[in-house]
Amino acid sequence: MNKFTLLLLIILVAFGCSKEPNVITESDLDASLLNVLKSKSHTGDIDFYTMPSSSDYDNIPNQDPKNPITYPKVALGNILFFETGIAMAAKKEESMGTYSCSSCHLPELGFTAGRFQGIADGAVGFGYHGEARTINPNYDGSEVDAQGARPLPVINLAYVRNPLWNGSFGSYGMNVGTESVWGIEDPLTSINKENREGLEAVVTPALITHRQDINKKLMDSLGYTALFDNAFHDVPVSQRYTLQTASHAISAYFRTVLTNQAPFQKWLRGEKNAMTEKQKKGANLFFGKANCVNCHNSPSLNGQRFAAVGVKDLDQNGYLAYKTDDGRSKGRAGFTQKDSDLYKFKVPELYNLKDVGFYFHGASKRSLREVVQYFNLAIPENPRVEAGRIDGQFRPLLLTDTEVDELTEFLANGLFDPNLLRYKPNSIYSGNCFPNNDAQSQIDLGCK
Ligand code: HEC
Ligand code: HEC
Repeated sequence: MNKFTLLLLIILVAFGCSKEPNVITESDLDASLLNVLKSKSHTGDIDFYTMPSSSDYDNIPNQDPKNPITYPKVALGNILFFETGIAMAAKKEESMGTYSCSSCHLPELGFTAGRFQGIADGAVGFGYHGEARTINPNYDGSEVDAQGARPLPVINLAYVRNPLWNGSFGSYGMNVGTESVWGIEDPLTSINKENREGLEAVVTPALITHRQDINKKLMDSLGYTALFDNAFHDVPVSQRYTLQTASHAISAYFRTVLTNQAPFQKWLRGEKNAMTEKQKKGANLFFGKANCVNCHNSPSLNGQRFAAVGVKDLDQNGYLAYKTDDGRSKGRAGFTQKDSDLYKFKVPELYNLKDVGFYFHGASKRSLREVVQYFNLAIPENPRVEAGRIDGQFRPLLLTDTEVDELTEFLANGLFDPNLLRYKPNSIYSGNCFPNNDAQSQIDLGCK
């Protein structure tokens, strides 16, 4: 060994030849994320992705001018959403007062159902988080309140202008130009003719579909009259205790249910340590190489568009025990009746999916990693969907296993607000058990 080689060896040892080459430091990850976010943001600024605080009503977007958010409405809507006492349009007497909106939208599970298919009227029991809800044997299949798609999470709805997987509600957003089909296939969509934002349009139909009732006598008996008076003092008394005012209150509440405590949201607000290195790598992939942002681009990472990515429908997963086809497998075309909309579904939001356990509209995937792999390989799984209908952005990504893990970690934990229970009331005015109130659920939920 000559002197020169020896010197080189000493230098290598002293200056960390044990370190891996080309190490990306965390500040590099922050800087590259900042850059890619700016380039994808609609405004050129990362603020585009930041959610307001839930009490900052002035900065919550897409409010209906006919229903501005106020605190009394939010407080009322919050309780009504969980209230089992308004379940008074059940198919059978024995089920009156036993279910709620939250039967299928549990805060503990990112406001989804704990099952591939939510069931309200026509089921009993609850289990730990809704997984043990089973069909009431006294109901025949067609009488059960269950839909042909996995429930959508009711979080970050301030960014949803056209609710449901097919976007059929709301007079604005993507529904401009669809006026001729309002009320045709689904009579409930005629509400769009009243010039309404999506939430104000969908919640009244939801109350009807899910067999609930609001009237003065019921509100008096449950103790809600004063809350309605407080929230809707400008509405004539004859119209004050109705499905419509309840829908306004629930819509106001929905707009405040924001996942603004997720690590990625904190990072956007300047807390650079809120995300781990792995989550930052995943975020760089999401907005960069993996191009998820092509479709998922908004503060909630939903998209104002519908796309066919060829996933299976509920019935094809062997999940639909009743109601063979309620038209949902057609996607957006089930509403617009347009051939070019066949099999297109809304690009959904991506926060708090970790606990959901069933992914895509047909619940065909059981883990977020499986979802990421599905996009990575880009092989459509649904034989109903002809190849030519698949979205051009759905194409192989060639991500390595490590990259798939990083992207999954960003979705699972970077986009996870750990405190959604702040949106759940401690009790409801009826004093009933909630979100379910049948005898078995009372036991399961510890109400008895
Ligand atoms: C039986 C289960 C069930 C009950 C009860 C239920 N939902 Fe849902 N919810 C669903 C399903 C399933 C979907 C998705 C349906 C679709 O898009 O085809 C959904 C979707 C929604 C959406 C659309 C979200 C989005 O991002 O587009 C809103 C809003 C909503 N529900 C509100 C409510 C309200 C308010 C109530 C109570 C009046 C309620 N839900 C009760 C199952 C339920
Ligand atoms: C072509 C547009 C498009 C691209 C690109 C895209 N998505 Fe999606 N994504 C969708 C649509 C549409 C759905 C809903 C599909 C369905 O259920 O029919 C969806 C659903 C999802 C879901 C399931 C959400 C739920 O509630 O079940 C996750 C998670 C997701 N996407 C993550 C990603 C990630 C990660 C990427 C990048 C690797 C990505 N997406 C790229 C359009 C897209």
